[in-house]
Amino acid sequence: MVKIAPSILSADFSKLGKEITDVEQGGADLIHIDVMDGHFVPNITIGPLVVEAIRPITDLPLDVHLMIENPDQYLDAFAKAGADYITVHVEACRHLHRTIHHIKELGVKAGVVLNPATPVESILPIIDDVDMVLLMTVNPGFGGQKFIHSVLPKIRQVKELALSRNLDLDIEVDGGVNEETAKLCTEAGASVLVAGSAVYNQKDRGKAIAALKR
Ligand code: DX5
Ligand code: ZN
Repeated sequence: MVKIAPSILSADFSKLGKEITDVEQGGADLIHIDVMDGHFVPNITIGPLVVEAIRPITDLPLDVHLMIENPDQYLDAFAKAGADYITVHVEACRHLHRTIHHIKELGVKAGVVLNPATPVESILPIIDDVDMVLLMTVNPGFGGQKFIHSVLPKIRQVKELALSRNLDLDIEVDGGVNEETAKLCTEAGASVLVAGSAVYNQKDRGKAIAALKR
């Protein structure tokens, strides 16, 4: 069964606690937290303080997606704040192997993220070491963008790699996921779907999550 990770980027930040319990009760599997620094991506969002505030209000794993330059500088802070997964962009890491192993040493699940134009080949040397591969299906920075269909073959490619190497790997997709594109992603091999606007722009979040799972 595919897992759904609502992205709080599309939530109402003035009542964030309620927005999170709402999706938890609605059947969400993870909470996706988008961290942006205004450098790696052209938007600024939240930091470890907010992750720390969210931690006690939900039992769901916190999936922290770092869209920041120099992620190494903040790994300890996000781990301490309560992240269960930390994913870093291959495009932002000079020493990806070091960064991934640093995350694991902190006792956190480690994931690597690829922008739409970054080839799967760029993670071949590290794929055996990660718990998750996150394929961006939009250019990161904003919620509510249009799904980029040319990423679908990359999902298949990662799925085939995972099968051929017998890896216990989550394949996550992020950006423009709705009922229609969710189906394409799961057919291609995705096991976790991030959904921001498709969940939070709906009044009934449980219904929206169920629709994505179908
Ligand atoms: C984009 C973020 C996404 C975003 C997805 O940079 O990484 O997690 O919130 O939003 P939707 O599902 O609306 O495309
Ligand atoms: Zn994200």
